[in-house]
Amino acid sequence: MSANRVKGTYDVLPNESHKWIKLEESIRHILNLYNIKEIRTPMMEYSNVFHRDSEGSDMVTKETYDFVDRSNRALTLRPEGTAGVIRSYVENKLYASQELEKVYYIGPNFRYERPQKGRYRQFYQFGVEAIGTVDAALDAEIVILAYDFIKRLGLKGVKVRVNTLGDQASRSSYHEALVKHFTPHKDELCNDCKERIYKNPLRILDCKIDHNHEAVKSAPTPLDLLNDESKAYFDEVIGYLDAAGIDYEIAPRLVRGLDYYSHTVFEIEADIKGFGAQNVLGGGGRYQNLVKELGGPDLGGIGFAFGMERLLMALDALEIDFSKDLEVDAFVVTTSPNLRKYAMKLLYDLRNADLVCDMNYTQKSFKGQFKQALRLDAKYLLILGDEEFERGMISVKNTKTEVQEEIKLNEVVNYLTQKLEK
Ligand code: HAM
Repeated sequence: MSANRVKGTYDVLPNESHKWIKLEESIRHILNLYNIKEIRTPMMEYSNVFHRDSEGSDMVTKETYDFVDRSNRALTLRPEGTAGVIRSYVENKLYASQELEKVYYIGPNFRYERPQKGRYRQFYQFGVEAIGTVDAALDAEIVILAYDFIKRLGLKGVKVRVNTLGDQASRSSYHEALVKHFTPHKDELCNDCKERIYKNPLRILDCKIDHNHEAVKSAPTPLDLLNDESKAYFDEVIGYLDAAGIDYEIAPRLVRGLDYYSHTVFEIEADIKGFGAQNVLGGGGRYQNLVKELGGPDLGGIGFAFGMERLLMALDALEIDFSKDLEVDAFVVTTSPNLRKYAMKLLYDLRNADLVCDMNYTQKSFKGQFKQALRLDAKYLLILGDEEFERGMISVKNTKTEVQEEIKLNEVVNYLTQKLEK
């Protein structure tokens, strides 16, 4: 029997989990400030939530974990958060109570990709969706939120790259322009791109094989084919971004890897050496057809998602110490086993006063217990000795200053609470 983790997955070990907890806390804190509530949707959906006719991205056509359950239902582990959130929005008729629903989510996603640093088969995303209205100010707010989030985490040197794909009509003109542009180069492109030329030429632009081909580099950009309405919408979005004073750049070649986008698209990119493509920490954009395609009314939305592993990697690479491991306030040691009963009661009382504390549970010698306390870097040692216990006393040692005092047993909780300012 093999006892290995699945390829492309990883364990968050106990000495690393505090970073995840802190990141999640930061996310919740910031999203509270924007008055955005959390939504939790299932990790699996019926396959047609993701496998829609309109979605021809690699991610959905080649990278999903699809399976049938024991009742022969076709299911898919979610490869991203947006489609499941929209399915829930439609199914629960959230549009009926509010014109604009803003939600955020944190959770695992699954893609059958080639694993490497910063790219996994199970990875966590933190994402936001604002569904129900089309308003350039909303597009700007979502970009600003993504920017604000990165700034508050302390990540520096991060670029916000913004572009537009335009409305459906502009996208169609762009499609035609790309077909025209790539057709003469058909034989030079990879087999997948040969097919993409007519079906989905946009996807040639982010092909992992052909992305350096001259024809890809010289392809027209969506901005070249925008109609007047789409250009006006984009100008308005940019106007709001300028007014907010955020740092962004227009990236005419940015098209994003999913097919549901129209109008505004954007990515958040770090500039960390050796990160390569994993410098893309997050991205998003507007989607106009998803709600309707999933059975809802004709309403648009906009959102983004960040890869949480990449956020943590970027924080590490920039040596931003944004979180500390849990600190142990007190460790109880006993000089003889018959005092362990009292030690347990003491732990119970200390924890009720919100102190982080522990003792040894492997029946170690007195010296062994001390060593364990030092390894845990406990701030205080509480030493229960037979003779002192008889007198109703306990020794309390500050491990930093090495000062040791004798305190009344029934006063030790108060004493520590005051010392630790809890
Ligand atoms: P996406 O660009 O596919 O967009 O993914 C967003 C982020 O998830 C990426 O920028 C990256 O940081 C992270 N990510 C993606 N795949 C992996 C992987 N295999 N391993 C580690 N991290 C990964 C979406 O998923 C859209 N749903 C975003 C969105 C929300 N658009 C509108 N609303």
